[in-house]
Amino acid sequence: MAGDLQYHWLPFTGNREFKSEPRLFVRAQGMYFWGANGEKILDGCSGLFTCAAGHGRTEIADAVAQQLNQLDYTPSFLRSHPASFELAQRIADLTPADLNRIFFVNSGSESVDTAMKICSIYHRARREGQRYMFVSRERAYHGVNIGGTSLSGMVRNRESFGPSLPGVVHMRHTWLPEHRFTKGQPDTGAELAEDLQRLADLHGGQNIAACFVEPLAGSTGVLIPPKGYLQRLREICDDNGILLVLDEVICGFGRTGRPFGAQSFGVVPDIMTMAKAITNGAQPMGAVAVRQGIYDTITEAAPQGAVELFHGYTFSAHPAACAAGLAALEIYEKEALFDRAAALSPYFLDSVFALSDLPVITDIRGYGMIAGFDLAAGVKPGMRGHAVQKRLFDAGLHIKTTGDAGILAPPLIAERSHIDDMCQTLRVVLSEC
Ligand SMILES: Cc1ncc(COP(=O)(O)O)c(C=O)c1O
Repeated sequence: MAGDLQYHWLPFTGNREFKSEPRLFVRAQGMYFWGANGEKILDGCSGLFTCAAGHGRTEIADAVAQQLNQLDYTPSFLRSHPASFELAQRIADLTPADLNRIFFVNSGSESVDTAMKICSIYHRARREGQRYMFVSRERAYHGVNIGGTSLSGMVRNRESFGPSLPGVVHMRHTWLPEHRFTKGQPDTGAELAEDLQRLADLHGGQNIAACFVEPLAGSTGVLIPPKGYLQRLREICDDNGILLVLDEVICGFGRTGRPFGAQSFGVVPDIMTMAKAITNGAQPMGAVAVRQGIYDTITEAAPQGAVELFHGYTFSAHPAACAAGLAALEIYEKEALFDRAAALSPYFLDSVFALSDLPVITDIRGYGMIAGFDLAAGVKPGMRGHAVQKRLFDAGLHIKTTGDAGILAPPLIAERSHIDDMCQTLRVVLSEC
């Protein structure tokens, strides 16, 4: 088996270990994956926050097949196809306020780097091209392209790659020791938003292009924004002419019980990035939603007939991805999955928080249909989390771990019985480690 595996270099994976004890999925349906040896594995993380409507959705597969048979590819520059406009409109219907201009990309990382460029060109169009700085947060994850790596605040993702883009500075993250075992939004910590004002005072608010934050920080282990925190960031951005960008790559499409985290937390950003569940994970796709005024400013600054944004990808708005996106959004609407997430959230969070008695768990956080827990560190940081992730797989549960944090985000089609099974497996495995 190992000989067959040698050619694929897996991302974010210990390749030598993986290839010596591979854990492959060969099939998926509904709430479950099946492993290469026939093991049935409950999906506790919607794949990678992608499969909100569960696996094996034939509506999506059929739509993609039909699209590929009809029009397999369209050049994305100077050409397009009807489904791209339809999907853009469907997404714009879900976004808050007038974030109704949609730029398509192929991943969350591309959405972040695209958003950074849009911020820069917007300020140039307003003759404020001196705004070269970006603010983000410690423990943030904004993908792996060079802009997103610079914005990110998870040390292992940055440290090996030398200096980041010049002009990127970080606020503190939003977790405080007093938040331990807080369900939902913590009451304290809104003042951490003042870090943005401090950075504006230090570097000159007129030099900052944008502030990037995840509505809740997902990949680092789920850090929920304190009450009032995002609102305060919004005010500081307004006071200083800074654009507020919400990275909705995990939160988007129902994870927080509303279409986007922006709506759940009651803040209107200037730009939103999204990916993952946009196609229910069935095709790679991402998007950037932009307020209409930003789009108008950028397009009107260019002469008639000229290209307004020198940016795009060969596979932007790929026909198969658009077909998958349309079919996924249709399922989300028909099955009212965002409302379902909101309705299931209290049961999900209560069940996860019931694990608080396990001595190895040092903290639990959660909101909507996403929760994170911390494990007491083992011999070296990250070792226990990694071991637990493997033991959970062997016990029939797939979750994501980041260092010694575990992240739970089951598909929004989950029944209470799936939540029960997930928490029971966690209890058994975590009691033994
Ligand atoms: C908030 C956020 N932004 C960006 C990304 C990067 O997305 P991708 O892996 O699709 O490039 C992720 C991935 O988890 C994410 O959580």
